[in-house]
Amino acid sequence: MTTQAGGLRGVVVGESEICDVQPEGNLYYRGYNIHDLADHATFEEVVFLLWKGKLPNAAELAEFKAELVAEYAVPEGVIAILRDFPKNAVAMDALRTGISALGMYDPDTGNNTPEATLRKALRLQAKIPTIVAAIERLSKGLEPVAPRTDLGIAANFLYMLNGVEADPLYVRTIDIDFTLHADHELNASTFATRVTVATGADIYSGVVSGLGALSGPRHGGAAEETMVMLLTIGSPDNVDAWVRPKLTGEKRTPIAGFGHAVYRAPDPRATHLRDMSRQLGELHHDTKWWQMTTAIESIVDELSNTPDRLAAGKQGIYANVDCFSASCYYEMGLPMHLYTPLFAISRTSGWCAHMIEQYKPGQKIIRPRAEYVGPVELPWLPLEQR
Ligand SMILES: CC(C)(COP(=O)(O)OP(=O)(O)OC[C@H]1O[C@@H](n2cnc3c(N)ncnc32)[C@H](O)[C@@H]1OP(=O)(O)O)[C@@H](O)C(=O)NCCC(=O)NCCS
Repeated sequence: MTTQAGGLRGVVVGESEICDVQPEGNLYYRGYNIHDLADHATFEEVVFLLWKGKLPNAAELAEFKAELVAEYAVPEGVIAILRDFPKNAVAMDALRTGISALGMYDPDTGNNTPEATLRKALRLQAKIPTIVAAIERLSKGLEPVAPRTDLGIAANFLYMLNGVEADPLYVRTIDIDFTLHADHELNASTFATRVTVATGADIYSGVVSGLGALSGPRHGGAAEETMVMLLTIGSPDNVDAWVRPKLTGEKRTPIAGFGHAVYRAPDPRATHLRDMSRQLGELHHDTKWWQMTTAIESIVDELSNTPDRLAAGKQGIYANVDCFSASCYYEMGLPMHLYTPLFAISRTSGWCAHMIEQYKPGQKIIRPRAEYVGPVELPWLPLEQR
């Protein structure tokens, strides 16, 4: 029996038509290669693809975008709740609570028909950037900025954070970043959303479960951890002395932004963010963070992917999606505590796609077994004898 200690690695729990993650370093959404989507699609097209199973034509995309922008605004009652949070609230905690509150304002709450679920998914996707931006501004004592209905999701999010339109390279970086983070099969948070709605619960409950699972450093928190590491190292000159001992001592210390539970080859998503990190550095006439991250990559490769280790059955260790998203976000001046909420904005699309699939007829409640290893047949002791 595969136990929880084994993290359910390699266990197939069901079929899905949404996302194909191949350990040899390939990723497909609905059959489309992630490289084509990152190079050519907008995030809105990717969301349509994930939810409806096909790429939109021009008319369908225009209609979908119009539906999304019409839902950007968040009920004043939700903003009032966000206002009451302590200024030092953890952003993911604030987001989790904000989304939970949002569910109570949704006119389709409690209605889990396919049509209502799609309407709720659209509202969630449209409103989550508005909530994240409002959380950030309120935590700094600033008023939320109203969404702009002439901007796409990526551009509008950056606009709502700062109250000014962002540089086109920033907008393109966020758009690509959202595409790359949109889905990844049964990662921990997506699995959590599917477990939740498999009981018949509403997708708002599913997203709240997803947000909880995503908040951990081994999942959505990796970009922030990566940036903390880069700031701690401080300069390209210090990389070697900092990284090498972590991988050569008695016990290897995981390097943030590297390794993956499924990929045994380079994470295809890292390619695009590596490039955006360099481009952003060049825009700012200083590629320091890109240089440091690529220098770490070289050392991790040299010490982890040796013929000896690979021959001994050890997994190859490569930069994952969060490795370069860290320096991209930092270059754009995004606060580090927003890195995981940014991931959540994007992954809401994948969560909703999976929950829509989970609601299909014939799906069962997800209820695995545990192997009991605790004490057995203990004698009952009355309270006064314990
Ligand atoms: C993602 C992650 C949790 C997957 O872990 P996993 O599949 O359970 O792999 P394990 O922890 O069992 O590690 C297997 C081997 O790879 C090594 N390894 C895994 N991640 C590593 C990393 N980030 N840096 C260096 N070595 C790593 C382990 O040291 C171990 O080697 P060993 O057997 O010689 O001790 C892990 O790679 C990690 O913690 N990465 C850093 C956090 C991160 O970036 N998360 C975002 C993922 S998208």
